[in-house]
Amino acid sequence: MNHRQLGRTPWKVSDISFGAWAIGGSWGAVDDTESLAALNAAVDCGVNFIDTADVYGMGRSERLIAQLLRDRKAEIVVATKAGRRLSPHNAAGYNEQNLTGFIEDSLRNLATDCLDLVQLHCPPTDVYYRPELFGALDRLVEAGKLRYYGVSVERVEEALKAIEYPGVHTVQIIFNIFRQRPAELFFQQAEVRKVGILARVPLASGMLSGKLSRTSQFAADDHRQFNRHGEAFDVGETFSGVDYETGLAAVEEIRGLLPSGMNMAQFALRWILMHSAVTCAIPGGKTPQQVRDNCAASDLPALTEQTMSAIRTLYDRSIRKEVHPRW
Ligand SMILES: NC(=O)c1ccc[n+]([C@@H]2O[C@H](COP(=O)([O-])OP(=O)(O)OC[C@H]3O[C@@H](n4cnc5c(N)ncnc54)[C@H](OP(=O)(O)O)[C@@H]3O)[C@@H](O)[C@H]2O)c1
Repeated sequence: MNHRQLGRTPWKVSDISFGAWAIGGSWGAVDDTESLAALNAAVDCGVNFIDTADVYGMGRSERLIAQLLRDRKAEIVVATKAGRRLSPHNAAGYNEQNLTGFIEDSLRNLATDCLDLVQLHCPPTDVYYRPELFGALDRLVEAGKLRYYGVSVERVEEALKAIEYPGVHTVQIIFNIFRQRPAELFFQQAEVRKVGILARVPLASGMLSGKLSRTSQFAADDHRQFNRHGEAFDVGETFSGVDYETGLAAVEEIRGLLPSGMNMAQFALRWILMHSAVTCAIPGGKTPQQVRDNCAASDLPALTEQTMSAIRTLYDRSIRKEVHPRW
């Protein structure tokens, strides 16, 4: 497992880390024993960074991570998120009082007295234009409730605005073969400001693993079923916002580019790691086998220029018009 510097924080984190949404909920039934096995497999593979949120299973994901931290002595950085428990989820709700309450709950769930990294959880765009909120986060750092803060964003424009605040140490953004716009202006600006980048949804919700088909079935409580058209939250979080059939066709083309010794999921992750601005990819993993598969991508050989260019051409031809103007 290789490690990269997480922005201006003191941490060097595994370039393949762990996304803990699915083990909390919204991805069909999950079993805590299996989820803990997946988390342990990640630590065994050298993962030292886990991304979660208070809202993933309403504390379930955070509590599983607390269990892992109790069981293992490894130094693990845990990034959580706050804001999505607001109902209604609006800019006004992002205030000092609400954030403090959410952070207190995460401290309890994670069984710690100081959170490593707290990210605003895809707030409405207006929140990025409210310096007082970032001031409130600075005060929470001073109060010793958290070490660092960052943001998780939907759009490139929000990322560019967020990094104007000096206290923002990390940006989490969807970046994968189906979502290439962050690699333009944003990565360049983030590198200048030494902001850590967490590439989320790296497998396009599993689609880039190449295992899905027209006949794949998803449980009613899996967002790949209930949010296919953005019914519950931003449609970009589900299959990266790419139409299912379009995604499947693109995956078949990618299959033809696969170097030997790599499976599709590993190829998708390796493609992300080709971008030096990215600190880590945070694939979701539900089973130890998925986690081991994903972690192996860290040590695979670099993709050739020819392969990178073929992926760019595929994106420009088949995906770009659906996603580029939007996120
Ligand atoms: N708003 C936000 O801030 C936000 C939003 C989304 C995600 N995130 C973060 O980013 C992380 C990653 O994104 P994501 O979980 O949405 O999507 P993802 O990583 O693209 O896809 C994860 C899913 O793909 C399947 N999978 C994983 N590894 C596989 C492998 N090797 N082979 C085949 N299938 C595999 C698993 O589901 P199945 O086995 O069920 O197919 C898994 O749950 C999340 O866990 C979360 O920490 C944050």
